[in-house]
Amino acid sequence: MNNHKTHWENIYETKAESDFSWFQPYPQTSVDFINLFKLPKTASIIDIGGGDSHLADALLELGYTDITVLDISATSIERAKARLGDKATAITWIASDIVDFEPHRKYDFWHDRAAFHFLTTEIQIIKYLAIVKQGISPGGHLVLGTFSDKGPNKCSGLDVKQYTEASMSALFEKDFKRIKCVEETHVTPFSTQQNFVFCSFQRTPMPIL
Ligand SMILES: C[S@@+](CC[C@H](N)C(=O)[O-])C[C@H]1O[C@@H](n2cnc3c(N)ncnc32)[C@H](O)[C@@H]1O
Repeated sequence: MNNHKTHWENIYETKAESDFSWFQPYPQTSVDFINLFKLPKTASIIDIGGGDSHLADALLELGYTDITVLDISATSIERAKARLGDKATAITWIASDIVDFEPHRKYDFWHDRAAFHFLTTEIQIIKYLAIVKQGISPGGHLVLGTFSDKGPNKCSGLDVKQYTEASMSALFEKDFKRIKCVEETHVTPFSTQQNFVFCSFQRTPMPIL
C-alpha cells in the first residue's frame, strides 16, 4: 500500500465526517457549476477523490443517472455506500489512486474538490493532466476546486499545492478553455475558514491531424 492510501484508509476508518475539515453538508459551489453547464440528466459525471462527499447524494437528488465516484480509499467508498443505502447501487464506485486510473470511457463532467491539490510533484500533475484529457468527452466540462494561495498549505496533515485562478488556468489552458473561476471561503466543522479556488474548463476539440 502506498503511504497516501494508508493515510486515507486510516482517516476514514477512525474519524466521523464532522471531524473532516473539508466536510460540507451540501456541495453548493459544485452544484452551481453543474447548473451553469445545464448538463442533461444522462450526462456521465465522475467525482475524483469523492470519498464520502455528499455530492453523490446531491446528484442523485437532482436526477442524474450516470454517476461515478473514484477515491484512493476503499473505506471511504464503503462509508458512502452505507450512507446511501439502496441508492448506492445506482453509482459506479472505483477505488484507485487517480494517477493510476485508466479511464475506459469518457465523462461529460469531471469534478474534483480537494483531491487534485494533494498532487505535489510535477510527475503526478502531468499524469493527472494526461488522464483527464483521456477521460473527458470532447466539449466536456472540468471543475477543479483546490486551496487557493490564501488557503492552508496542508490538508488532513498532508502537503498540498495551492493554486490561483492564473496558475490553474496556465496548467490547463493548452487543452481546455477556461470558463469561470470563483473563490470560496469554506467554513470547516470547527468554524475555521479555508479559501478555495474553483475553476471550470471545457475540453477543446482535438486537432485534426
Ligand atoms: C480533502 S478530501 C475531499 C473529499 C471530497 N472531494 C469532498 O469535497 O468532500 C480528499 C479526498 O481525496 C482522496 N484522495 C486523496 N488523494 C487521492 C488520490 N491520489 N487519488 C484518489 N483519491 C485521492 C481522499 O481519500 C479523500 O477522500
